[in-house]
Amino acid sequence: QANGLGHAVLMAQEAVGDRPFFCLLADDLIWPDHPVLPGLAEAGSSGVSVLCLRELTDDLLATKGVVVPGSEVVDGALDVAGAVEKPGADAAPSRLGIQGRYLFTAEVFDLLSKTEPGYGGEIQLTDAIAELGRIGRCRGHVADTTLLDVGNPNAYLHATAVLAAADPD
Ligand code: G1P
Repeated sequence: QANGLGHAVLMAQEAVGDRPFFCLLADDLIWPDHPVLPGLAEAGSSGVSVLCLRELTDDLLATKGVVVPGSEVVDGALDVAGAVEKPGADAAPSRLGIQGRYLFTAEVFDLLSKTEPGYGGEIQLTDAIAELGRIGRCRGHVADTTLLDVGNPNAYLHATAVLAAADPD
């Protein structure tokens, strides 16, 4: 059943168990020369969950989860105090948007199991992240990557053009 991204992640609980795990959304492509997972692992070395973040332009603030910063950015990482799903430019708490790369501790499953449907009537991963932020268990890693999103038609076309232009074959 398609009940939302948060519900989909919760379906992995039995396979993952108590271990920390990476969550990779397949419709966000990360340029292969600029891997972000090592940065997530480093920012999460103290045993907290970590989000991959990127500075967004106004037009994209209605298309991504956006975080409430809990500290300044130091060495590319910051505390995350909360998050809002697709707030739009008027309501956005910052310009730091969530990209589809996450490192979670298993506590996210407990939070997801208590998360009610939110934006769009779906169980939102961002709402569980907001709770992780509220209890001081979430960091952000700001990545300077090219955003290639194949989750909507215009962005799919853009990603196809960028990747084709970069490939001599
Ligand atoms: C999902 C998440 C959103 C996140 C985005 C990353 O949205 O709900 O918080 O910023 O992935 O691409 P979707 O793209 O499924 O609408």
